[in-house]
Amino acid sequence: MSHKLSSTVTQILNILNDGNIHSGIDIGNALGISRTAVWKVVKRLQKYNIDIQSQSQGYHLKEPLILLDQKKIAPFLSNKEISLEIYESIESTSHYLKSKIPLKTQTICLAEYQSKGRGRLGRKWLSPFGCNIYCSLSSVFKKDIAEMSGLSLAVAILAANALEACNPKINIKLKWPNDLYINNRKMGGILIELIGEAYGICQAIIGLGLNVNMKAVELLDLDQPWISLEHVIQEKLDRNIIVGNVLRIILEGLEVFHHKGLEVFLSEWEKYDLLKNQKVSLDMGGSKVFGIARGIDHQGFLLVENASGSIHKFSYGDASLLKD
Ligand code: BTN
Repeated sequence: MSHKLSSTVTQILNILNDGNIHSGIDIGNALGISRTAVWKVVKRLQKYNIDIQSQSQGYHLKEPLILLDQKKIAPFLSNKEISLEIYESIESTSHYLKSKIPLKTQTICLAEYQSKGRGRLGRKWLSPFGCNIYCSLSSVFKKDIAEMSGLSLAVAILAANALEACNPKINIKLKWPNDLYINNRKMGGILIELIGEAYGICQAIIGLGLNVNMKAVELLDLDQPWISLEHVIQEKLDRNIIVGNVLRIILEGLEVFHHKGLEVFLSEWEKYDLLKNQKVSLDMGGSKVFGIARGIDHQGFLLVENASGSIHKFSYGDASLLKD
C-alpha cells in the first residue's frame, strides 16, 4: 500500500529530531491531534526500522532524520508545470509512474521507502526509509524507441555532473551502461524503461537510486560492494539539496538529448568511464564474454576487444571488472 508523505509525519519527526524524549500528549497538542493518532504514526514509522523508542515518558528518536520536502525541492525545478509527488512509502516509484501512463504532465515521483524497489536485469533495489534517494521521472520524447539507446548513458553522465557539482569530494566513475561508482563501490544506479506511445513518440520512465546517508546495517544482504555519499563526505547530507540539483541538471540535459542525441555527451563519457582499457566480463544472461573494454561507440554500445584483437560491440549486459 502506498502512503503520500504527510505533514503529520514530517512534523512528528521534526519534533523528535532534537533527540529529547517527547510524550504522545505533548506531540499531539503541538499538532492538534490525539495521542492515539501520534501513536499510530509512530507505530507505522517503526515498521520501516526507524529507531523511535517508545519509553514510559514518551518517544525518543536516536538519530535525527531530515525528510524529503516539497518546498525545498520545488525551487530547483524551473518548469513550474512539472508535477512533484512525494511518498512516505510506495512499491516502486518507477512502477507507479508506469502505471499512470499516459501522463498528462511531466511527473517526478520521490519516496522515502520502496517496498519493491527494482534494479536493472530484474534485480531488487533495497530501499530503506529516509536515508537515500529513490526518484523516478517521466519524459516524453519525439523519437522512435530505436533512437533512445543512448538515454541511459546520458542520464548517468548528467547525474555524475550534478553530484560532482554538489561537493568537490565527490568523484564519480560510471560503469557501463549506467552505474554510478565511487572508489570502486556502487553508489547509485539508473533504470530506464521505454514505452512506445505512437509512431515516433515514446515515453521514458527514468528511475534513479542514489545511496546518500545509508549505514552498513541497512544493507546487510546486498551482494555487491557499495558506498554512500555520507561515507565520502563524512557528514550527513540533506537529500533535498542533492535531489534538487540532480533533477535540475537531468531535466536541462534531457532537452539537449532530445534535440542532439547522445553525440554531445560522448566526450564526457571518456572522463567517467570506469571500464576503459580494463579486463572485463560481460554477462548477457545466457552467455558471457571476456576481453578488454575499449569505451563506447556513437550509439552508446560497449566495445570489447577479444583475445584475438577484434572489437565487438554490445547493446546490453552486466559488466564486471576482472581482477588480475
Ligand atoms: C540498478 O540496478 O542499478 C538500477 C537501480 C534503480 C533504482 C531506482 S530507485 C527509484 C526507481 N524505482 C525503482 O523501483 N527503481 C528505480
